[in-house]
Amino acid sequence: MSKFKDNFLWGGALAANQIEGAWNVGGKGLSVADVATYKPDLDVSDYAGHNKVTSQMVEEAMTTDEIQYYPKRRGIDFYHHYKEDVKLFAEMGFKTLRISIAWTRLFPTGEEVEANQEGIAYYKSLFETLKEYNIEPIVTLSHYEMPLALSVKYNGWVDRKLVDLFVNYAEVCFKEFGAYVKYWLTFNEIDSVGRHPFTTAGIIPDKCVDYSLDEAVYQALHHQYVAAAIATKKCHDMIPGSQMGCMLTKLTTYPNTCNPNDVLLSLERNLDNYSHSDIQIFGKYPTLYKQLLKNKGIVVKMEDGDEQILKEGTADYLAFSYYMSRTESADPNKEKAAGNTIMSVKNPYLASTEWGWQIDPVGLRISLIELYDRYNVPLIIVENGMGAVDQLTEDGKVHDSYRIDYLRSHIEEMAEAVEMGVDLFGYTSWAPIDLISVSTSQMSKRYGYIYVDQDDLGNGSLKRYKKDSFYWYKKLISSNGEDLD
Ligand code: BG6
Repeated sequence: MSKFKDNFLWGGALAANQIEGAWNVGGKGLSVADVATYKPDLDVSDYAGHNKVTSQMVEEAMTTDEIQYYPKRRGIDFYHHYKEDVKLFAEMGFKTLRISIAWTRLFPTGEEVEANQEGIAYYKSLFETLKEYNIEPIVTLSHYEMPLALSVKYNGWVDRKLVDLFVNYAEVCFKEFGAYVKYWLTFNEIDSVGRHPFTTAGIIPDKCVDYSLDEAVYQALHHQYVAAAIATKKCHDMIPGSQMGCMLTKLTTYPNTCNPNDVLLSLERNLDNYSHSDIQIFGKYPTLYKQLLKNKGIVVKMEDGDEQILKEGTADYLAFSYYMSRTESADPNKEKAAGNTIMSVKNPYLASTEWGWQIDPVGLRISLIELYDRYNVPLIIVENGMGAVDQLTEDGKVHDSYRIDYLRSHIEEMAEAVEMGVDLFGYTSWAPIDLISVSTSQMSKRYGYIYVDQDDLGNGSLKRYKKDSFYWYKKLISSNGEDLD
C-alpha cells in the first residue's frame, strides 16, 4: 500500500520567467529576469559573483531587444505552447502544477492604477486549461521576476512603498484568479535575498548610498515578510478555503566533523536558514535573530503595527525546495563544492551532478523530519531535481536514467519520512519541462521529463520530446508513489 495520502499532489514546478518567453508581448513590462545575462562560465566558487549587478548593466539591458544574451526573454515560449505543455503534464497524470504569475504581465512597471487585461486573460486561459485536466494549480506570486522599474526607481524592496504595490498586485490576483486557485505561495525562496539581492528583491548594490548592502538586504527582507503577512490575510478574506504558504530554500547543513567548531558553524547556518520560516510561521522575529542584527549593527526600520501584522498573517503551510545538503568546516582550506547559489565544503560521502551540486537523498529525509518537528504544519516539496546535459537521439528519445535515479532516491526517502509521521501533502519536481536555468541562464542545464529542442543560444525548433523519465514519472504517479522501478 502506498505510504502517501490518497490525494497526494504529484506534479511539477515552474516559474514564469524561466518558461514563458514573450517578454515584450501582451503588454508585459520588463522584469529583473529580463536583464539576466547568459553566464555559461559562471564560476561556481563565486556564486555571489553573478549578482554583481550594476545600474549601468541594467540601463544597457533596458535599451536593447537582444534575446540571445538575455535567454529568459525567450524562455521556452510556454506563453504560446502552454496548451500543448499542459496536455503533456496531464498525460503524465499530474495532480498539480506549480507556476508563478509574472507580476509584469499584470502591472508592467508595478505602479499602474489598472491591471493589464491581456495579462489577466492569459493567466485565466492557463487556469482554464489546467482545470480541463483536473490539475490543481499552486501559484507563486513572486518568483524572481519583480518589475524592473521598481528596482530602478526604488532600489527594489528596500523601499517600504513595495509593500503596498505588492499587496495591490496580490489582491488583483486573488480577485481575478481566486475561483481557480486554492494554494498560493508568497515569495519563492525568500531567504535568497541575501544570496542574490537583485534577483529576489531588485536591489542594485551601487544604489545603496545612505545604507550598506547588508542593511538593504535585511530591510528588504522585513518588507517582504510584512507584505507576505498582509497578503496572507487578504487571501483568506477574499478566497474562502484558500491556503497561503511560505517558501524556503532548505539548505540543511552538516558539520564536517565532530569538532565542536564545525558543529557550531553548521548550527549557525541552520539557524540562519530557519529564521526565514520561523518569522513566517511563528509570526515573529526569533530572539537570536534580533540579537544577530544588533550584533551586526543593523537597524531594520519597522513601523508601528508591523509586529501585529506578522502575528496575524502566518503561513498555513511550509513549501520548500531541496536540491542538495551542504557541509561546513571551521578549517577554511577544505575542498569546496558548489550548490544552489552557495558554496560549501565537499562532502566525501556524496556524488555530484555535472554542475557540482552534491546529491543527498537522505538529506531530504532529514530536512522533512527537522521541518515538521519544528513547525508542525503541513509540508510540501515544491522543488527537487537534477540539472544535467541530455542527449536527444536521432529517433527522438532521451535516455535519462541518471535523472530517474536522482528522483527515485529522493522519493524513497520522502516515503520514509511520511512513514515516520511527517505530514507531507505534495511533491512538485523541478522542473517537468526543460527551461532556462536561473543561475547561468543556460538551456543546456536540463531538468525536465520533457525535452525542448532549443540550445543555449536560442537555436532549435522548440519541439517537445518525451524523455524516458516521462514514462517513469507517469507510472510513479499512477501508483501514488509506490512503483519506483
Ligand atoms: C531554485 C529556483 O532555487 O533553483 C529555481 O527557485 C531554479 O527558479 C532552481 O531554477 C535551479 O537552479 P538553476 O540555477 O539550476 O536554474
